[in-house]
Amino acid sequence: MAALFTPRADRILRRLAAAAVVAVLAFLVVATGIVDPGWFRGASAAPPQPVPFSHKIHVDDVGVDCRYCHTSVEVAADAGMPQMKTCMSCHLPLDPQPDMPYSLVWQRVQPLPDHAYFHHGAHISAGVGCSTCHGNVAAQAVPVAPQRYSMNWCLDCHRDPADSLRAPGELLYMDWTPPDAAVQAERLHQRGIVPANLDHCYVCHR
Ligand code: HEC
Ligand code: HEC
Ligand code: HEC
Ligand code: HEC
Ligand code: HEC
Repeated sequence: MAALFTPRADRILRRLAAAAVVAVLAFLVVATGIVDPGWFRGASAAPPQPVPFSHKIHVDDVGVDCRYCHTSVEVAADAGMPQMKTCMSCHLPLDPQPDMPYSLVWQRVQPLPDHAYFHHGAHISAGVGCSTCHGNVAAQAVPVAPQRYSMNWCLDCHRDPADSLRAPGELLYMDWTPPDAAVQAERLHQRGIVPANLDHCYVCHR
């Protein structure tokens, strides 16, 4: 049987087919989120939200306390995300947003994988404040994680947490810096925190 295509046409067709396969694979990798573009710069980009909520307006301008919306942050593992009724305590009489959907499903900026266990209450009661881990949320329209929540990031602090311990009234300060090493070492001691106990695998993998 005579060849259907000339050798040259055959070569071109093969190259086109190979290019198509590569393009489809690249599309799948990006579209399925196997590779998060933010991963390359070590933190994740902000996901789209049901309402274009701004921390800058609510925390910085209006002065709402973090705990008004993240109600369980001092006691539970999860910080808690606000439901519609929390927003409506201000927006129904004041400034109803016409397009607000009635059930809010907030997209997470950077969730931990299921095999890692984190507990907000344990950190807040030890005196670690929000901005130490989340950056200056109050100044951001949209929260952007300042670093990846990698295992090494957790361990770096667990092995030497003294510099992150605040006085009780300072937990929500967005621009907190440690006073000096002696004060910090004293806080570590007073609060009975033993770094050697904080890097066992079972602390974060249960
Ligand atoms: C020691 C670090 C650390 C501190 C301190 C901290 N967070 Fe978090 N926060 C995290 C991590 C890690 C996650 C991701 C947890 C997950 O996905 O399970 C998170 C998640 C969240 C979330 C998303 C919902 C959730 O609970 O998963 C909110 C909201 C939040 N933090 C608010 C706060 C506020 C408000 C404070 C201060 C009162 C605070 N955080 C203090 C590390 C911290
Ligand atoms: C303590 C009162 C209060 C609470 C609670 C509150 N807001 Fe607001 N919100 C305000 C005020 C005040 C403004 C500024 C109004 C303005 O500029 O017109 C505002 C503005 C807004 C805007 C408009 C922002 C812009 O770009 O103009 C949106 C959207 C919004 N809030 C959504 C929400 C959502 C969603 C919640 C619940 C998670 C919420 N708010 C909870 C008081 C509140
Ligand atoms: C008026 C309500 C409100 C207040 C006050 C508020 N938040 Fe939020 N927060 C939200 C909403 C709604 C989201 C989800 C939308 C978004 O990510 O922008 C959110 C998301 C976050 C996230 C992203 C968590 C993740 O991993 O997805 C962090 C971190 C956070 N808040 C921290 C804080 C801190 C720290 C404060 C105080 C300085 C604060 N919030 C005050 C309503 C609030
Ligand atoms: C900036 C410092 C810091 C960072 C970052 C941090 N931790 Fe912690 N963590 C602490 C301190 C301090 C304690 C309290 C120890 C105590 O009370 O004895 C603690 C306690 C805990 C506890 C409770 C331990 C217990 O048995 O009571 C868990 C679980 C935990 N951390 C998980 C994590 C994980 C997972 C990460 C990373 C996603 C993380 N932590 C990041 C400082 C930190
Ligand atoms: C202070 C908290 C903490 C401690 C202690 C800890 N891990 Fe992790 N580990 C994490 C977090 C958070 C992740 C998820 C990291 C990510 O998403 O990149 C993780 C991920 C992992 C993974 C998955 C692979 C990876 O890199 O994501 C393995 C395996 C693991 N840890 C093993 C261990 C072992 C073994 C120990 C004890 C020697 C240990 N971890 C102690 C927080 C911790």
